[in-house]
Amino acid sequence: MAIERTLSIIKPDAVAKNVIGQIVARFEGAGLKVAAAKLVHLSRAEAEQFYAVHAARPFFKDLVDFMVSGPVFIQVLEGEGAIQKNRDLMGATDPKKAAPGTIRADFAESIDANAVHGSDAPETAAVEVSFFFPGMNVYAR
Ligand code: RTP
Ligand code: MG
Repeated sequence: MAIERTLSIIKPDAVAKNVIGQIVARFEGAGLKVAAAKLVHLSRAEAEQFYAVHAARPFFKDLVDFMVSGPVFIQVLEGEGAIQKNRDLMGATDPKKAAPGTIRADFAESIDANAVHGSDAPETAAVEVSFFFPGMNVYAR
């Protein structure tokens, strides 16, 4: 399997709970490496642009309100099959449906405050990595 890069966001609920380190440890424990990282408080414009694919959805305003409610920890994760590996570690979007032992099962409260974001495909990983880390290539060398 190819070495990939993917974008991960530890969302405001998990940052507020002080579990950044515990979540990063899950990524590291699964063999993913942190290739870039920053703690930022997103502007509304940034959150709207990042989640633009969901702009027409009924939950869009709640999603943006939540993503700007506090700082987020944004990382580029790198490793074999990193995109799917990260999604598997995250668990289902709704923490009530997330498998035991996944990040969302263990740290998330609700479908709105669900602890983490992860790119869902190579195409979105490329767009999302360069959105937050301009000039960073999604293909690891
Ligand atoms: P994410 O993009 O944050 O990694 O989450 P995801 O791929 O698992 O889910 P996605 O379908 O991309 O939805 C993005 C975020 O919108 C919120 N959402 N709410 N109320 C709802 O039905 C609903 N559906 C989605 C979630 O917070 C989800 O993470
Ligand atoms: Mg998504």
